[in-house]
Amino acid sequence: MTSTPVDAPRLFPDRLVVAVDGTSGSGKSSTCRGVATRLGLRYLDTGAMFRAMTWWMLQHGVDVHDPAAVAARCAEPAIASGTDPSAPTITVDGTDVAVAIRSDEVTAAVSPVSTVPEVRARLLALQRAIIGAEVEPTGIVVEGRDIGSVVVPDAPVKLFLTADAAARASRRAAESGATDVAATEQSLRSRDAIDSGRATAPLLLADGAVQVDTTGYTLEEVVELVVAMVDRVRS
Ligand code: DC
Repeated sequence: MTSTPVDAPRLFPDRLVVAVDGTSGSGKSSTCRGVATRLGLRYLDTGAMFRAMTWWMLQHGVDVHDPAAVAARCAEPAIASGTDPSAPTITVDGTDVAVAIRSDEVTAAVSPVSTVPEVRARLLALQRAIIGAEVEPTGIVVEGRDIGSVVVPDAPVKLFLTADAAARASRRAAESGATDVAATEQSLRSRDAIDSGRATAPLLLADGAVQVDTTGYTLEEVVELVVAMVDRVRS
């Protein structure tokens, strides 16, 4: 399931990491939380960390379209993620930003901020520290865009979730209460284009990842599929 050479040192030896990447609105969060809850694993939403970084930049008046300005400040915010799948938390400098990071303003700015290599390097270190600290004794489900390719390339279970853009837009609109589904779809497509086209750690199908199109499936069905994959590597 992984392309890591057999003699390469494992990043997290003897630890179960389930790496879940995919497009915006493909059902990653619900799937990951469902799987982590079912299997008693921890859960890390790395998208929330990029959103928290973006929220801080907006709060401090940093021009999110100026990569040098973002890079110059990205070491400042203290971002902390709680990894309980039934109640994941995210704080910046001690402030709970779980609701604020889902605003349209943050959603519109998060992809440009995520393209800045210094931002990615800082959050990569933070993500690996959390994964290293949280996976014992059970393991952790980690969702994002570059988990199977960059953050934990030797994860024993890797998934890449996709879904039709129209299906993703109606799911997102239902979650957020947005009434303009066409605008939601446009926003998802534009984030996907930036996330897939960036130079550093683009969204792509990682080596060894299993691609799942969730369009015609219920959440329960996708959770069941992933649980079965994890059970196979555990046995
Ligand atoms: O999963 P999400 O939609 O909350 O993620 C928000 C943005 O964060 C997404 O558009 C791209 C960025 N992101 C990233 O670049 N790398 C990750 N591992 C996770 C998210």
